[in-house]
Amino acid sequence: LTQQRYPVTRLPFSVVSAEDLAAFERILPGGVVTDPEVLEASNVDWLRTVRGCSKVLLRPRTSQEVARILRYCHERNLAVNPQGGNTGMVGGSVPVFDEIILSTTLMNQVISFNSVSGTLVCQAGCVLEELSRYVEERGFVMPLDLGAKGSCHIGGNVATNAGGLRFLRYGSLHGTVLGLEVVLADGTVLDCLTSLRKDNTGYDLKQLFIGSEGTLGVITAVSIQCPPKPRAVNVAFLGCPGFAEVLQTFSSGKELLGEILSAYEFMDAECMWLVTHHLRLASPVQESPFYVLVETSGSRAGHDSEKLSDFLERALSSGLVTDGTVATDQTRLKALWALRERISEALSRDGYVYKYDLSLPTERLYDLVSDLRARLGSQAKHVVGYGHLGDGNLHLNVTSEVFSPSLLADLEPYVYEWTARQRGSVSAEHGLGFKKRGVLSYSKPPEALRLMQQLKALLDPKGILNPYKTLPAQA
Ligand code: FAD
Ligand code: MLT
Ligand code: ZN
Repeated sequence: LTQQRYPVTRLPFSVVSAEDLAAFERILPGGVVTDPEVLEASNVDWLRTVRGCSKVLLRPRTSQEVARILRYCHERNLAVNPQGGNTGMVGGSVPVFDEIILSTTLMNQVISFNSVSGTLVCQAGCVLEELSRYVEERGFVMPLDLGAKGSCHIGGNVATNAGGLRFLRYGSLHGTVLGLEVVLADGTVLDCLTSLRKDNTGYDLKQLFIGSEGTLGVITAVSIQCPPKPRAVNVAFLGCPGFAEVLQTFSSGKELLGEILSAYEFMDAECMWLVTHHLRLASPVQESPFYVLVETSGSRAGHDSEKLSDFLERALSSGLVTDGTVATDQTRLKALWALRERISEALSRDGYVYKYDLSLPTERLYDLVSDLRARLGSQAKHVVGYGHLGDGNLHLNVTSEVFSPSLLADLEPYVYEWTARQRGSVSAEHGLGFKKRGVLSYSKPPEALRLMQQLKALLDPKGILNPYKTLPAQA
């Protein structure tokens, strides 16, 4: 097994044998997949830029089965790639070589829901959108939402510490996840699946696994705090004449909408071009250099619409906003959100996508996009900026007809150096996975990196869990 496509060498893990397959079949009767056609989809990532060559996919249903698989793989020195919905953006969810794919697809049961506290306990393979439906029927919402909701698993969300569209209101999974059950590399089941809001008994171990991208353990169950479902939701989709106005509209929104402001997303004119051309979505407002999506969520429709009208009147009369539309019914709300949520889908139809996910000081966030547009000139098909402006998170994406090494050389390390100069983060919410593991040092000091490597060695001494991911290759 040689790997030509990536500058990485296969580590000396064992190769899956016929005896191994028989052992897996004993642990998971009917849950061992070796059909190359089925494996094809699990070997390639959502962006179709990273591909592995795994020959086996395992589909456990219980934590005990995961434990038995990992105990066996640890003993046999077999590498394992945990996989949820395979919507990750950094190549962490697919094997690099022949790692065994351990999928949570069949671990899709809700374990309990407390309708007083709003605590949901479920298996890791529950699809986010299905969980949303489940809790919404009971008067609650999931504290996170993202464009990949129809496919991503809650375990994958926790493993990537996904941010998404509700971060501004409900914060990070580091706050909303109350407990986790995790199977460690040697098969030990770590039951930290509590539902307590407060628990200061020793180190908060679950936090280690939130955002660990399958490198420290396999998350098998999640306990998560769901907030009450807001009774009134409004979405305003607005056109702004410049980025300065996008920022001022945000400040004004925070001041005038206060506690009901629940999302503040932005996209530039090139993003609008992409979604209207590739996905045939219709723009609801006049053409503008920038667009913002402002969502309010509250408990009294009258109170919220009064606040929103005041905010919009002032934004329009002062010229911060040049055109806008407001939706309150489900169908129109969804249509407005689609313009923003489906940008990544439109980009992947445009060509090869160079994807950057950066945390930057909000006031400088768009400078990098303008700067790159000038730097790259006609080499790039599109240079676009969009993202979770309310969280200081820019999605900077560049497309070209086909992959171009010279374009990449103009982008990297330039983008990372630019970000490091602002003391920003080279991965705000997507993680490092396979594609970005080499750039961690732009955002973390050597002491932090060393401690991360020590933690990895402690929890996974043989390095069988998601090798070649997250941490840079060690010398
Ligand atoms: P996968 O892609 O299968 O895996 C992701 C990583 O987690 C891999 O390293 C994998 O090994 C690991 N992993 C998966 N399951 C487990 C488990 N049970 N235990 C341990 N490790 C595991 N991200 C954001 O943060 N915000 C967004 O707004 C956002 N929007 C998106 C929109 C679209 C259209 C798409 C395609 C992706 C988007 N993402 C976003 C990327 C995001 O990381 C994923 O969508 C999601 O969190 C990953 O979940 P998944 O189940 O697909 O995990
Ligand atoms: C988003 O916010 O749309 C996602 O993080 C996906 C992406 O950046 O393409
Ligand atoms: Zn995002």
